[in-house]
Amino acid sequence: MDQPQPPSELSSVQKNLLQSDALHEYILKTSVYPREHELLKGLREETNKKHPWSLMGAPPEEGLLLSMLLKFMNAKKTIEIGVFTGYSLLTTALALPKDGKITAIDPDRKAYEMGLPFIQKAGVEHKIEYIESKALPVLDKMLDEIVLAEGVADEVEGVGAAVAKILWERLVERMKRMNLPTRKLAERPAGSAEST
Ligand SMILES: C[S@@+](CC[C@H](N)C(=O)[O-])C[C@H]1O[C@@H](n2cnc3c(N)ncnc32)[C@H](O)[C@@H]1O
Repeated sequence: MDQPQPPSELSSVQKNLLQSDALHEYILKTSVYPREHELLKGLREETNKKHPWSLMGAPPEEGLLLSMLLKFMNAKKTIEIGVFTGYSLLTTALALPKDGKITAIDPDRKAYEMGLPFIQKAGVEHKIEYIESKALPVLDKMLDEIVLAEGVADEVEGVGAAVAKILWERLVERMKRMNLPTRKLAERPAGSAEST
């Protein structure tokens, strides 16, 4: 079967909320590009030059907003689902504190490796754990690690009762949908629905 082809061109009006190319250009030139980290600029330009699907990359105005939100929240641990060449990943890595951690998941390692030299040059690679995979199995495993098996009570207490309840109910629902036996589940957290 034929592979889908990237569009040859997409106007910024199609790509952005701003419904005018001229206004978008003006904002980029006066407000966004002057604030963009030089290695983000490098990664963006490399992607535009070398990747046929460069239009998939996060736009720089989105990067600025993301960076601001992460700093407001004092975020320390994030999950990046869909890395591509790493524009939003590098944005996040630059915004997190020195001991911040990002779990970055994408089955396309080649695209990640295109942006990796910029991440390394920025000195933030140590914050990133890249996992070459589709996201769902990794997220399921993370959930399992928190909720399943012996020792579950301590882990659950660690994430707080309300979160534990949500995680538990999601896990039970997901396992039922997949027709998996839920008897392996250890003690359920207080207030959560009973498993079968
Ligand atoms: C729109 S791009 C992401 C843009 C990226 N965040 C950036 O800053 O440039 C979508 C990415 O999602 C990845 N992807 C597709 N299906 C996925 C899945 N099931 N789990 C994780 N990543 C997936 C693709 O390989 C692609 O790199």
